[in-house]
Amino acid sequence: SSRFLSSLLRFHNEQAWSPEMVKQIREECRVTPSFVSEAEEKALLGEVETRLQKLPYEESHWDEAIHLYREREQRVWTAENEAVLARVRECSFPKDTSHLTYVHILDLHADGHIKPHIDSTRYCGDVITGISLLSSCVMRLRHEKRKEELIVDLHLPRRSLYRLGGIGRYEFTHEVLGEMESKFDGEKIERGRRISIICRDLPKQQAKFFAKMQPIPQE
Ligand code: OGA
Ligand code: MN
Repeated sequence: SSRFLSSLLRFHNEQAWSPEMVKQIREECRVTPSFVSEAEEKALLGEVETRLQKLPYEESHWDEAIHLYREREQRVWTAENEAVLARVRECSFPKDTSHLTYVHILDLHADGHIKPHIDSTRYCGDVITGISLLSSCVMRLRHEKRKEELIVDLHLPRRSLYRLGGIGRYEFTHEVLGEMESKFDGEKIERGRRISIICRDLPKQQAKFFAKMQPIPQE
């Protein structure tokens, strides 16, 4: 039925989904293609790549979630890139959200993948949002308790923006498929080296705490 239709989201096993769950996923989890232009991608890569290149790819994350990656956090950006990040936050976070000042940069090797996980509720708030540079990929969401039954795939084209919120952030794990598994709706999605630039908002408790200590600049 039409409630399952959206070109960059694919619900597996449609009959297992309640309409309410589909609605929540569709409202809170979005993919915006061509969110950054080729010139903006180039400028972002120009700022992150040289520093990443000094790091070796790591085999596995401490919690085993990511295979073959390197990562950094960055707080200060060129004005040009900061403008793109401001657009990311404006597009993905509700108004007046306090966000982490650090931006997470994740460089996933062509042979790497991200295993199913839920981002820590201690460090990240209600929304996870990011842009995909250099390569497209498939991000798979699985219901935490019904992992083989409730699955929805997000096709993240190169230069797109994704946003995970609501049940998609808290009740579903997310993962990035490796090259071999990288299919969307049965079609192969080429998966090369991918750099993601991820923004997160603050957990509510932390946001309140910081608000008492110091005003957080808002966009
Ligand atoms: C993470 C993660 C997704 C991405 O680092 O927790 O899920 O877009 N990253 O790289
Ligand atoms: Mn994650």
